[in-house]
Amino acid sequence: MTQYLALNSELGILIDEQRLLRGLARNMLGEEDIAGVVIEDGQGRELVREERNIPGPFETAQKWVHLSETKDGMASMDLITENRDGDRIGQVKVVYSTSGIEDLVTKMKQRFLIIALILILISCLIFYVISGSLVAPVISLAKIARKVSLGNHAIRAPEGNTPETIKLAEAFNEMLDSIALGRKTIVQAYEKMARQETLVEVGKFSMMIAHEVKNPLAIIKSSLEILKRELNIPRENVALTFAEEEIVRLNDLIESFLMFARPARPNFERIDLNRLMYQVVTGFEIQYPDGPIEIRSSVPEEPFYASADFDLFSRGVTNIIMNACEASLGKGIVDISIECKRKKWQLYVKDQGKGIPEQNSGRIFEPFFTTKAKGTGLGLAFADQVVKAHGGNIKAENRPEGGALFCVTMFSNLKEDEI
Ligand SMILES: Nc1ncnc2c1ncn2[C@@H]1O[C@H](COP(=O)(O)OP(=O)(O)OP(=O)(O)O)[C@@H](O)[C@H]1O
Ligand SMILES: [Mg+2]
Repeated sequence: MTQYLALNSELGILIDEQRLLRGLARNMLGEEDIAGVVIEDGQGRELVREERNIPGPFETAQKWVHLSETKDGMASMDLITENRDGDRIGQVKVVYSTSGIEDLVTKMKQRFLIIALILILISCLIFYVISGSLVAPVISLAKIARKVSLGNHAIRAPEGNTPETIKLAEAFNEMLDSIALGRKTIVQAYEKMARQETLVEVGKFSMMIAHEVKNPLAIIKSSLEILKRELNIPRENVALTFAEEEIVRLNDLIESFLMFARPARPNFERIDLNRLMYQVVTGFEIQYPDGPIEIRSSVPEEPFYASADFDLFSRGVTNIIMNACEASLGKGIVDISIECKRKKWQLYVKDQGKGIPEQNSGRIFEPFFTTKAKGTGLGLAFADQVVKAHGGNIKAENRPEGGALFCVTMFSNLKEDEI
């Protein structure tokens, strides 16, 4: 601005035209922040002084006015330098207030500070939101892991909001599922082991007792015979008959226990399983000629040869049929049927009893498990042992129409020409 004034004052100073110079000075004063304008001639005489009252602080800018060297007399900015002392014809001084600039600088500083603060706040907010959405699920997983370690195995992690946290929660829950499954399997295996250990101990102890009781029983039985003979006690004596019956029952119990406790070692021969079944079924038909149970059977006439122990296998399946008859007592049909498919032989024993209660279904093959007042709980355990020793299996289920269904599956291990 001072430079502009210096250029435009050249002519006014040269011709000493006060009005022109005053006009220039007033024009300058029209500008905001300009407090005073002074134009002097080459000798430092004040030609014009114009002032205005505005708040300070003030600074002064001054410029020399030189004679222009351009042909057309027009001033050129770059021709005016401070070093051209020789052609100085005057001087202009502009007093200006720096308060506006300072205000501007202060305002700009404040704005910058506010913008910086807002940016910091926004960054913090974004960081908080992002870190919250990433860290919150991890914290919740840590809490859940702690609860699981304290014994709450049913708890599962909630799914997060982002695909990553959803995947993380899914993986975490899968891990908890497999831990729960593993735990359940271990608990079951432990329970089974504990049961088997007990059974082994009970078995050993019972074997010893059974063995020790068998001999005195035989002595009691023969002593009763002698007494009967020597004292001439009639056959129909109630007390004696009762004693004899109980001795027989006790003996049977011991026999069946010992039969189970001694591992069944089959004496394998090539036998016709259908023929064997025919004999077993006939035995039952004779036992129940006309009620209360009806034995229905369909045993194929065609032989099915397999390698088996006739006596052992007969006793095994007899236990299954006996149970069916006992379950159907007083009402119902026991249906015995056989299916032969090449090397596979299946025996189905259906009854019309009450079926196997859900809570017992896993235990019926356990030795000593019985729901009968006079049962030993060894029948199915023995049958299972025998069938397994023959390479087969027994399955039990409840029929939708009521009653139980036992299925014995056997496989012929004979060569094609022996079957
Ligand atoms: N056909 C069936 N219907 C319903 N329950 C059955 C049947 N067969 C077996 N069970 C159940 O399985 C249990 C075990 O049978 P298992 O033959 O081993 O012993 P038991 O019959 O009780 O005794 P025992 O064979 O010495 O007479 C039975 O007490 C009964 O609860
Ligand atoms: Mg039984």
